[in-house]
Amino acid sequence: MQTRTLGELTLPRIVLGTMAYGSNRSRAQQTDTIHAAIDAGMSAVDTAPLYHFGQTEELLGHALRGRDVQVLGKVGIRWDADARGEVMLRTQIAGRPIVARKDARPQAVRRDVEESLTRLGRERLDLCQLHHRDVHTPIAETMGELLRLRDEGKVGAIGASNLCPAGLREAKEALGDVPLSTHQLEYSLLAPHGRRDVDAAVSLGVGTLLYSPLHRGALVGGASSRARFDRRDPRRQRTPFLHANARRIDAALEHGVVPIASRTGHSVAQVVLAWLLHQPGVDALVVGASAPAHAEANAGAARLVLEADDLRRITWTFAGLALDPDAAPRRREILEAQARRVAGALLRRLGLR
Ligand SMILES: NC(=O)c1ccc[n+]([C@@H]2O[C@H](COP(=O)([O-])OP(=O)(O)OC[C@H]3O[C@@H](n4cnc5c(N)ncnc54)[C@H](OP(=O)(O)O)[C@@H]3O)[C@@H](O)[C@H]2O)c1
Repeated sequence: MQTRTLGELTLPRIVLGTMAYGSNRSRAQQTDTIHAAIDAGMSAVDTAPLYHFGQTEELLGHALRGRDVQVLGKVGIRWDADARGEVMLRTQIAGRPIVARKDARPQAVRRDVEESLTRLGRERLDLCQLHHRDVHTPIAETMGELLRLRDEGKVGAIGASNLCPAGLREAKEALGDVPLSTHQLEYSLLAPHGRRDVDAAVSLGVGTLLYSPLHRGALVGGASSRARFDRRDPRRQRTPFLHANARRIDAALEHGVVPIASRTGHSVAQVVLAWLLHQPGVDALVVGASAPAHAEANAGAARLVLEADDLRRITWTFAGLALDPDAAPRRREILEAQARRVAGALLRRLGLR
């Protein structure tokens, strides 16, 4: 697979995202998917302590044993009793309440790295990214601790994620001569606002890693028929998966992407990933996959060369797409349609229509 050298590390253009792994369900399939991705050339995996509260890193610890793979980790979100800072997430595990906070104080960041290394069974994180900004801790203090961890050999390269352009500049300046190797950010056909963050990183000489490039599966085609989602799948409530929006996305894919996929013999997901890889300033994509075949297909997207006309067609199709955050979920839509039919029939019987 093609690679890019970004500051102090060299990454494949498609990195495996592991956010969905680590739950107790289908661990064997998750491990098979990780192995398929590595065999297909994704020689780097992106993870974080937050993913399944450490279980993803534990799964990776087993799955990566004996394999030559770079691990891109994160710091700055903690859920132990000592955690301080803005609440990021409240949930429950086995009836136990969990409150995860943005905590990037030096001592928190050090504990994050040390605990990750234990769970992963590794001596070093190849890339250590500040996951989110902690507004109560100056970025310079966080970066100072990451520099110390780098000097100790526990961290290879240093990166960041989800920073605004000003925050990115601060992080870079705090590192002095040591490069801020990467900025991980969201940019896709359905998250065009990320373009600003790509440009900001490029102007500072920082490499770009794009997360959720398939918009969590909304951009693979057939999103409108995704009633198949598990009831616990949080995507059911997200804007792109609300029925009216999913139908619009599928129509845009049908018009802008399917003809190119058919002509080149690739899948919709592969063309969507290739479109991103062709965008200026985009270095690598962090892509999730729930099955080995998906991982192999995603790796293949790095080889797909699109023509200028293809790129324009996709860009223009999605530029005109607007999603409605208040769109009715499918069930409500059906109930509303039923209610309209009943009301219409009643009005007709009463001679009012
Ligand atoms: N830095 C951050 O704050 C941050 C935030 C979010 C994510 N991330 C990183 O980015 C990674 C990827 O993000 P993501 O999982 O949210 O979104 P994504 O990569 O856009 O979408 C992944 C989903 O797309 C579907 N998919 C993938 N390949 C496919 C293929 N070839 N054909 C058909 N469907 C395919 C699968 O859905 P099904 O499961 O329905 O099959 C998969 O779960 C995460 O794992 C994580 O490492 C980082």
